[in-house]
Amino acid sequence: MNTDLFQETIRCLKPDPKCEGVFLLIEPHLLYLSDEQADVYLEVMETEEYTASFHGPTVEIIKSNLPAIFSDIEEGVSLIDMGPGYPDKSLPMVQYLKVRGIPCRYVPVDVSRPFLDLAARHVEPFVEWVYPVHAIFETCADRIPAEVYQYTTYCMIGLTFMNFPPEILVPLLQDIAGGDGRVVVASELLSDTKTEDLVLAAYRTEAARAFGFGPLRHLGFREGELAYQPVFANGRVELHYRLEQAPGDALQALGVRAGHTIVTAVSYRYTENQLRELLRRYFKSQRVFTSPDGGTAVAIGWD
Ligand SMILES: C[S@@+](CC[C@H](N)C(=O)[O-])C[C@H]1O[C@@H](n2cnc3c(N)ncnc32)[C@H](O)[C@@H]1O
Repeated sequence: MNTDLFQETIRCLKPDPKCEGVFLLIEPHLLYLSDEQADVYLEVMETEEYTASFHGPTVEIIKSNLPAIFSDIEEGVSLIDMGPGYPDKSLPMVQYLKVRGIPCRYVPVDVSRPFLDLAARHVEPFVEWVYPVHAIFETCADRIPAEVYQYTTYCMIGLTFMNFPPEILVPLLQDIAGGDGRVVVASELLSDTKTEDLVLAAYRTEAARAFGFGPLRHLGFREGELAYQPVFANGRVELHYRLEQAPGDALQALGVRAGHTIVTAVSYRYTENQLRELLRRYFKSQRVFTSPDGGTAVAIGWD
């Protein structure tokens, strides 16, 4: 077992204040701490259920609305890409800017070194310069170079928006974007046709189970020791893993027992109205772009 991964993971394990016998391990960076986890995530991205449900539509929304997304640009654009993963959302943006002769500075921020390198390599041909920041979102603000703020700044988190409680994430993104900056988020949308049960279908796959298991592996669990169930609760998808047997001493000391559940990932969902209302709480101006079926949104907020 890797001691650093164990220490970082167990530090984040907290009892669920709302539910006896449930423990939360839901800080999103725990899903991407090791290079193996980055590989497993790329496998999830290759599953039809996951990609077709909202990744593909998000890329299409961006491609169809580039002139509106990049309206009123003066000198150039700085794109702070919060967790680029494979940068399929940022690539159409930087390609569009390059074709129009608008200079772009690119700052990917990621806890995962492989994703940071992947993003930098793919985006570099289209931008003035790339400045990768290897950090977690929560502590990256001081590491963004000052030159970024000479251009119109876009702080884009894309679909990773769904993995954080908005009241914690949005102020952080606003701070990183700077006073004149713009914040770009994306979300799958709930509707009469996109029910909670349909949303869960993307998580009822072996690839999703294996991805959510990553933080548990850091705690010393082996595959098969926990029963997997994705559930919709508290306005979000939660990946639940129930312990079939007693855990090791370190977890026992924290009160974790056989039969208890550890939640390793959450992913919030909003209706279009809820998303608009949420943005109104934080920004003076907002624009929401939706996919033709109304199932996915990309939104920009600014003051
Ligand atoms: C789900 S992928 C999303 C990729 C892309 N932005 C999108 O919208 O599809 C999440 C990315 O964010 C990174 N990440 C997640 N939580 C993070 C955190 N707290 N700090 C830094 N990087 C994080 C992961 O390593 C990964 O590259």
